[in-house]
Amino acid sequence: MVERVAQKVKDCKKLVVLTGAGISKESGIPTFRGKDGLWKKFKPEELATPWAFQRDPKLVWEWYQWRRQLMHDKKPNKAHYLIAKLEKMVPEFWLITQNIDGLHRLAGSEKIIELHGNIWWERCVDCSYRRENRKLPLDEIPPRCPECGGLLRPDVVWFGEALPEDALDAALRHSQDCDVMLVIGTSAVVQPAASLPVLAKNSGAFVVEVNPDETPITDICDVSLRMGAVEFAEALQRHL
Ligand code: OAD
Repeated sequence: MVERVAQKVKDCKKLVVLTGAGISKESGIPTFRGKDGLWKKFKPEELATPWAFQRDPKLVWEWYQWRRQLMHDKKPNKAHYLIAKLEKMVPEFWLITQNIDGLHRLAGSEKIIELHGNIWWERCVDCSYRRENRKLPLDEIPPRCPECGGLLRPDVVWFGEALPEDALDAALRHSQDCDVMLVIGTSAVVQPAASLPVLAKNSGAFVVEVNPDETPITDICDVSLRMGAVEFAEALQRHL
């Protein structure tokens, strides 16, 4: 099966890879859902919403600081590196990720669409100020905007918020005109990301899923591989 996928990748003109939290699991970052998932311990509506931030910015920032602490020393794994390599191999390539951990960039990927933002970036709720900030612990919680004194918030998409328009437009466009899509490590339940493989399939692409578990998109995929991202990367590498 992996051999067939490798052949499709080698023959393709435009490859799109869609990733979710599962790709970073073997780097030591917990997923959201599943048996050790983060949402088992925390309620998203209490922490990852604009209303939660309005009510208690300190609590929300403490949670994000805890997540930054959890992520700061984590390294890309073989799956992140293989995706960076694929970008150089095929004529046209885009990586669409739901992850906010920044590991794809660390692995060398450049053509990345971050659908849900990036945990290492902050933006002001009152003005257009944005910054990358890897300092741990934070100087103050909640941090304040150095330009206008407003509250800074994590530059990520929360429940109830729209995705950045340019990122979503690009993701839709590339999903519609790729000829192969690899979908790695997503439970495919959060919209609109979960619709991208369906869009690719309906537009004629060969769609491959890599996930130890079945998901709602398993049935529409041409190939669905029940394996972890690193095992897949090692197998694909052998056939490229
Ligand atoms: P989930 O936590 O919902 O799903 C992770 C998926 O990874 C599951 O389907 C697992 O079966 C799979 N998985 C586990 N181990 C794996 C491995 N070693 N290799 C490959 N796959 C593995 O994560 P996402 O689908 O990314 O949004 O979640 C989507 C969004 O929900 C997140 O971006 C986040 C969350 O709410 C926001 O924060 C806006």
